[in-house]
Amino acid sequence: MREQLEELKKQALIDLEATQSIDALEEVRVRTLGKKGALTKILRGLGKVSAQERPQLGVLANQIKEAFNQALEAQRSRLKQSALASRLQAEQLDITLPGRERAVGSIHPVTRALDEITTLFTHMGFPPATGPEVESDWYNFEALNIPADHPAREMHDTFYLPPAFDGSKRVLRTHTSSVQVHFMENRKPPIRMIAPGKVFRCDSDVTHTPMFHQVEGILVDEGVHFGQLKGLLEVFLVRFFERELPVRFRPSFFPFTEPSAEADMGCLFCNGKGCRICKNTGWLEILGCGMIHPNVLDNVQIDTELYSGFAFGMGVERLAMLKYGINDLRTFFENDIRFLRQHATVGGE
Ligand code: DAH
Repeated sequence: MREQLEELKKQALIDLEATQSIDALEEVRVRTLGKKGALTKILRGLGKVSAQERPQLGVLANQIKEAFNQALEAQRSRLKQSALASRLQAEQLDITLPGRERAVGSIHPVTRALDEITTLFTHMGFPPATGPEVESDWYNFEALNIPADHPAREMHDTFYLPPAFDGSKRVLRTHTSSVQVHFMENRKPPIRMIAPGKVFRCDSDVTHTPMFHQVEGILVDEGVHFGQLKGLLEVFLVRFFERELPVRFRPSFFPFTEPSAEADMGCLFCNGKGCRICKNTGWLEILGCGMIHPNVLDNVQIDTELYSGFAFGMGVERLAMLKYGINDLRTFFENDIRFLRQHATVGGE
C-alpha cells in the first residue's frame, strides 16, 4: 500500500505539472481527489488495513493529499498567470495610433428642400400639417371636386388599395391636396397651413418616380384674393432660390381651384435667355395654384358667402433639382453614396 501511495503521488504530480489549462487541471484533480478519485479510494480502503499499519499509512496518505493540493494550487496560479499574460499580449493597445474617424450622416437633399420650404412658410404664418398617406376616395378626389367620372382622375395614375372594412375605396394619396380637406373640415377660418409630404403615382420613367414629395398650402379667410396668393408665392420663390427672379402666372385648370393658374419663374440657368433646361422658353414651370373652388369649401362646411381662400401645390424634387443643380430625378432615390456625399449638409446648415 505504501508503494501504491508513493507511485500515485509521483504520477499525480507529473500529471499536474503537464497540464496546460484550468480544465485539464480540474480533470487531474477529479481523477485523484474526486469522489471516485484514486487517492480517495485508497483513503477509503484504510479501514481494511491492520490497526498496526493504519496510523502510519493514514499520516502518509494525508501528507500526499496535502502535497497534491499544494501542487494543484501552485499549478493553478501558474496557469492563470500565463493566461493573463497571453491575454495582455493579445489585447495590447497602441495608444499612439490615431483615432478612428466616425462617419457622420447627412441630410438628404429632398429632406433639406422640404425643411427649407417648411421653414420659409412657417415664418410667413403657414405652419406645417400632416394627413394620412392611405386615403379614401373622398379625401383624395370627391371632396376636391374630382367626381368619379372626371377626366382629371386619369392624370393621377392612382395606386388603388383593397377596399376598407366598410367597403369604401382606398388609394395611396396622389397629391397632398387631400390634407386641405382634413384640415379645413375641423376648423373655422381664418385657416392657414402647408402640408409637406409623400405622394404616390403609378408612373416611372426618367422624369417620374412612383413616390415623390409635394408641399400644399392654403389660406382661407374673409376677403382672400388672388393678389395675395401671387405676392406670397413670389416672396417664397425669391427666398427659396435666394435671388431676385421674375415670376409669372399663366391660366390653367385644376378641379379644386377656380380660377386656376400655374406659376413660372425665370430660368435660373440662362437668366431667361433660353436654354436646354427651360426648353428655350426662358421660363420654368414651378407650381399650380388658384382660388379654392366653392364646391370644395362647401364640402367642408365653410360658408362661401363669407369666406374665400387660395391654394397652391408644388413638387419638392423639382424645386430641389433646380436649387441644388441636380439633373436626374432618379438619383434622389438610388441612394448612391457618392451622390449623397456630393450634396451632403449636416443638420442646421
Ligand atoms: N394637386 C395638384 C397636383 O398634384 C397640385 C396643385 C395644383 C395643388 C393647384 C393646388 C392647386 O392646391 O391650387 O398636381
